[in-house]
Amino acid sequence: MTQKKIITVLGATGAQGGGLVRAILEDKTGTFAARAVTRDVNSEKSRELAKLGAEVVAADVDDPAGLERAFKGAYGAYCVTFFWAHFSVEKEQAEARSMAAAAKKAGLQHVIWSTLEDTRKWVPLSDDRMPTLNGKYKVPHFDGKGEADAYFTEAGVPTTFLLTCFFWDNFIHFGMGPKAGPDGKLAITFPMDDKKLPGIAAEDIGRCASGIFKEGAKWIGKTVGIAGDHLTGAQMAAAFTKALGRDVRYNAVPPSVYRSFGFPGAEDLGNMFQFKRDFEDYFCGARSLDTSRALNPRLQTFDAWLAKNKGSIPLE
Ligand SMILES: NC(=O)c1ccc[n+]([C@@H]2O[C@H](COP(=O)([O-])OP(=O)(O)OC[C@H]3O[C@@H](n4cnc5c(N)ncnc54)[C@H](OP(=O)(O)O)[C@@H]3O)[C@@H](O)[C@H]2O)c1
Repeated sequence: MTQKKIITVLGATGAQGGGLVRAILEDKTGTFAARAVTRDVNSEKSRELAKLGAEVVAADVDDPAGLERAFKGAYGAYCVTFFWAHFSVEKEQAEARSMAAAAKKAGLQHVIWSTLEDTRKWVPLSDDRMPTLNGKYKVPHFDGKGEADAYFTEAGVPTTFLLTCFFWDNFIHFGMGPKAGPDGKLAITFPMDDKKLPGIAAEDIGRCASGIFKEGAKWIGKTVGIAGDHLTGAQMAAAFTKALGRDVRYNAVPPSVYRSFGFPGAEDLGNMFQFKRDFEDYFCGARSLDTSRALNPRLQTFDAWLAKNKGSIPLE
């Protein structure tokens, strides 16, 4: 029996990494094996991955030695950071730097870095269409990742830069689902006017990543963007209305209003949506549906994702 090539997956118990671990394990005749990294090998999610056939190992992305152990002997790795766990660009970048260094040390042959644009290339700090945050960012959770692309290149790691997009799972877990207004009518709220928002089922990110690892060399040194659909707020509201059998409206607000909502990260997200709105052609163009479907033939549309997940969306 030929030895399978190990892919070390960071964030394996979470949205992106979980999708990749499952995609690797489901591909019984494939050439890859999944090494799932978690801080707690005894958690329910970790045990579930072990039961499915993953090698589950303990490491914290804040511990460079732990990362080195997790990467040792592997062929490749899926590298992702967890901005919303701490809201710190500096921490996220220190983690990305450790990942690149550990990948180089382990001699990995293919790393996928889950990144996003450095929006300051489109909206320099001097552009006052949106506020500068923390003194040096426009969209902190984007800019920090985009800046960290260079860590992988400079370390000489064979890397694919994977541009993700809005997870529809945010409608379940991130408080973005339809909410009842004063009139009792359900609405989704985005500061996108009539522009299209690329979105994806989080599990499909992992499946696309699996496709990238399978195609290998073709993607090294390349940036690839993925999405399951490009939809306006009105189109998403119509899809909700159809799936839920209840009227759901699209409440378009200005980005400044979204930034003032007051929840943690509201300013970052307000700027992010404004970037996606103001640079719609670039942002959608960088996330081809055809490329995403070629990498992952099971790619879900928003309608298909809603049909499967509508029961899990909290309706307030
Ligand atoms: N939500 C969106 O729409 C969206 C869109 C594009 C990009 N993103 C980006 O996606 C990233 C998060 O990815 P995700 O949603 O896949 O993550 P996630 O589901 O929130 O979490 C992934 C897993 O990471 C592990 N983890 C957290 N901190 C860790 C640490 N210090 N060391 C090791 N493991 C740690 C946790 O596992 P254990 O508890 O088992 O250790 C967790 O289950 C963020 O940086 C965000 O900016 C989000």
